[in-house]
Amino acid sequence: MTIRITAASGAGAYVEGMQLQNLTSAEIALLREGLGEHGVLFFREQSLTPEQHIALAEGFGEININRFFTPVDGYPKIAQVLKEPDQQKNIGEKWHTDHSYDQLPALGSILVARELPTSGGDTIFSSMFAAFEALEPAMKEKLSKLTATHSSRHAFGAKAYENESEKEFAGRLGNSQAATQDAVHPVIIRHPISGKQALYVNPGFTLHINELDAAESEALLAQIYAHCQNERFSHRFQWEQGSIAFWDNRATWHSAMNDYAGQRRLMHRITVAGTALTA
Ligand SMILES: [Fe+2]
Repeated sequence: MTIRITAASGAGAYVEGMQLQNLTSAEIALLREGLGEHGVLFFREQSLTPEQHIALAEGFGEININRFFTPVDGYPKIAQVLKEPDQQKNIGEKWHTDHSYDQLPALGSILVARELPTSGGDTIFSSMFAAFEALEPAMKEKLSKLTATHSSRHAFGAKAYENESEKEFAGRLGNSQAATQDAVHPVIIRHPISGKQALYVNPGFTLHINELDAAESEALLAQIYAHCQNERFSHRFQWEQGSIAFWDNRATWHSAMNDYAGQRRLMHRITVAGTALTA
C-alpha cells in the first residue's frame, strides 16, 4: 500500500498506508519530515503493544521520561494519561506545548488511545507554523528579537495543587518537587527539522517575555495567545480505538477536551527527546 500524507484542516496531517510496527529507516525519515512540515501526524487503525510503542519512539530519538506523570505499570518509559469516571479535572486542557520548560525541549510525543469514552475526549492541535505565518510583517519583526522564560513550577510544582482536593490528581501526577526548572527560548524559533519558523510561547508554561517589563509582556502574550487560538490554525482530532497522534512540540499547541464526565479515558504517552531551539 502506498503511503499518503494528507494535510488536515487547520493543523497537522493524516498518514495512511503505514503500520507503525517495525518501520524502516526510510519510513522514519518520511515521518520526521512530515512532522517538520505539518507539526502533528494522525494515524488510524493501528495496533501497537507497549513494547512496539517504545520501539517506535526510539526510532526518533531517546525517550524522555516525564518527571511528573505516573508511568504505566511495568513500563517506566510510558506515561499514563488517565482520567477516572469520578475525577472532574483532566490533564492538559489549557492550551500548551509539552516540555517548553526544559532547556532542551522534547521533540514531541506519541499518544496511543487505550480506553476511550463513548464520545468526547478529543484533542485539539493548533499549528504554530500557521499562526506565525499569519502575523503582520511588523509583528514578525518585533517578535523575532525577543526571548521568553518558560517554567513548570506553576503547572506541576507544589503550589499548583494547593487548591485541589487530593483525590483529583492522586496517582496521576506527582513529583512536584522536581518542578524547579526554568528555560529561555526565542519567541520565534526555526524548526529543527524543516527550518520553518514557528511561534514558541504557550499559555501553559510561558511566564514572561524577557526584554519587556511585566505589563508589556503580559499584554503582548495575551495578544499572541488570542491570535494563536484562532480556529483556522487548529484541528480537532477525534480519537477512535487504534488512533495515534504524534505531535511535534516545536510546531504545535494542544488542548485536551474535558467533556466526558463519568467515563474513563486512558492514553499511553511516550515523549521523545529534542534539541536546543534557535531563532
Ligand atoms: Fe500535553
